[in-house]
Amino acid sequence: MKKVFFLIIAVAFSLPVVADEGMWLLPLLKQQKFPEMKELGLKLQDYDIYSPDSASLKDAVVIFGGGCTGEIVSPDGLLLTNHHCGYGSIQQHSTLEHDYLTDGFWAATRDQELPNPGLTVTFIDKIEDVTDYVLKNLEMDTDPTSMNFLSPKYLNGLAKEKAGEKFLQDNPGMEVEIKAFYGGNKYYMFTKKIYSDVRLVGTPPSSIGKFGADTDNWMWPRHTGDFSVFRVYADANGNPAPYSETNVPLRPKRWFKISLKGVQENDFAMMMGFPGRTNKYYTSWEVAERRDIDNDVRINIRNLRQQVMLDEMLKNPEIRIQYSSKYASSANAYKNAIGSNWAINKRNFEQVKREEQDRLIEWSNLNNESAYPEALLTLEQIVSDRKDLRFRRWMLDEALVRGIEFSGVPTDVKQMCDALNGKDRAEQQKQLLLLERAYLRFADKNYSPEVDKKIAKVMLKEYRRLVAPKAQPDYFSIIDKKFKGNVDRFVDFIFEKSIFGSESNFNNFKAHPSVKALEEDPMILFAKSIQKEKAVLTEALKDFDDSYNLAHRTYVKGLLAMYKDKANFPDANFTLRLTYGQVKGYSPRDCDYYGCQTTLDGVMEKEDSTNWEFVVPARLKELYNIKDFGRYGMADGKMPVAFSATTHTTGGNSGSPVLNAQGELIGINFDRNWEGVGGDIQYLPDYQRSIIVDIRYVLFIMDKYANASYLLNEMDLVE
Ligand code: ARG
Ligand code: ASP
Repeated sequence: MKKVFFLIIAVAFSLPVVADEGMWLLPLLKQQKFPEMKELGLKLQDYDIYSPDSASLKDAVVIFGGGCTGEIVSPDGLLLTNHHCGYGSIQQHSTLEHDYLTDGFWAATRDQELPNPGLTVTFIDKIEDVTDYVLKNLEMDTDPTSMNFLSPKYLNGLAKEKAGEKFLQDNPGMEVEIKAFYGGNKYYMFTKKIYSDVRLVGTPPSSIGKFGADTDNWMWPRHTGDFSVFRVYADANGNPAPYSETNVPLRPKRWFKISLKGVQENDFAMMMGFPGRTNKYYTSWEVAERRDIDNDVRINIRNLRQQVMLDEMLKNPEIRIQYSSKYASSANAYKNAIGSNWAINKRNFEQVKREEQDRLIEWSNLNNESAYPEALLTLEQIVSDRKDLRFRRWMLDEALVRGIEFSGVPTDVKQMCDALNGKDRAEQQKQLLLLERAYLRFADKNYSPEVDKKIAKVMLKEYRRLVAPKAQPDYFSIIDKKFKGNVDRFVDFIFEKSIFGSESNFNNFKAHPSVKALEEDPMILFAKSIQKEKAVLTEALKDFDDSYNLAHRTYVKGLLAMYKDKANFPDANFTLRLTYGQVKGYSPRDCDYYGCQTTLDGVMEKEDSTNWEFVVPARLKELYNIKDFGRYGMADGKMPVAFSATTHTTGGNSGSPVLNAQGELIGINFDRNWEGVGGDIQYLPDYQRSIIVDIRYVLFIMDKYANASYLLNEMDLVE
């Protein structure tokens, strides 16, 4: 006991890293963190979790789509992830008649499982430290200002060379990638196997999978059953292949056992997943910049845009389906930015980072290292010099590029015009067809010109209010010249006149295609003008970005040198990481404490049939009333829903498998608490919690609510 106590004290005082902080790289886990994990209760050996040359738990963890994590839970390739990660696919299969968003969906047999073109599942076959290899290649690059050390194109070129043409040809679906870590002070290569036949197996209704919606998003206590079920298919040899009826369920290397034992406060918990991006090596100046420019612009602009969307969605069920996914993702980053600014201010992140910088300066002076303090001066200067440009860039991106959908219409019409001017009939037809395809993509089933028009009016007004006239895209000058400053009329005009403004406009154009129409099309001119402004800003910011990247690498190198005896983890970069900690509640404010486990009682407490966010489906109420929880209920007779843990996670960790000390699945990560999102910059031990749907709730919904118990038969359940 005493020994443990001293160990904890020693650890607490010697590390800049706080207990439970960290997104650890698997190859470094053994040397960096394994003893502490054991101390906290882990019962496995390091090679059970990660082994370079045999199957281990990491083989059951996958990238789901482009930004989430998933886990394999059966020998037949069954996969669990979040409802919000499967949301796009669920929405694609939904219509007013088959509204899977509202009603849920369960494939009763395997041939009812629904294919999702474009959706992939990626396994990580191999992770190698290739730092020496990359550095050796970089040395041959004589340009001192070269950005190759961070360039994905350059690094992936090296990865391909290292793996060899033949290896990639012989292994369909295999890809290799080299990623930079610690700002470009270390490199790892990942060999990935990418499956592209991934089918939707089941999803609860949004009233379970998204219960609490945006009000509860980023909040604890939480009562959401945020999961969905997919299956990975492969060709007869188990290799990745595009969708085909003849494909068969994948026989994976590993799948997780599922624990029915539940969790207690302070239990060990760990998860593996793909955290997307963190900024723990920010300087104090970048913290302020993030707050005053990035976050502030985002909060202001999204708030305005979301108000318009929500209004329209509540008025019209068709618009609700069309815009639900867009709204959710907008609102998600919006609320994150609010939480981030809250933490930056309340937890004094500028001060925290300043102290770190001062430590490095002091250490550098003692050790005659001048490069690190110099890098800090450079970073300070860059942040100050790029202020205006950065503000313009954020305004452009948030208000016009992301904000207004029609700013994404095709603008590359030169070839088209050439064809129309030319004599080649076949070429003309080909170009017209390409344009039509582009039009259809722009005006897809999730697009409403009316909504876009309303949003554009609001966005343009705010943009023009905040960005100096000279710094606006040049096409905007006609707003004053032609429309006397009336933005509404300008937007109406764009839709009236553009070939993309309505289906009839497009059909008219198709009947009489003309170069003039394309060259004078106001929507194309609008979009072009925005693109031009974006290019100007990108170019102007590039010098800053380049010198920033160089100085940042040096700064991080300095920190690594100063803390060389300690375990340091690199910022998240959407590579496979492990984080561990404990199941724990927290105190959000004085005299207030949140427990670590929520139950179905809380769902019923929040129920509000007049508010779409808190509607509880009748069947769930019925199960609750008769307390039919089967083997998934807790000893006290309650039905668990979600729990919270101290694990250090970020966006991309959604869908991550949460494992107990035996490595069995106890939950699926899906969120963080609002007070903890600042952890992307600085981990907050007392505040930050991962929010995890309890696996017993997942099984209960599948079995009792959806009568899909046949799916449980293929899983390994551990009582
Ligand atoms: N906040 C979570 C994460 O960043 C969940 C988002 C999905 N839910 C929602 N209501 N938008 O992605
Ligand atoms: N909800 C996030 C995700 O989708 C997870 C988080 O940010 O904690 O990845």
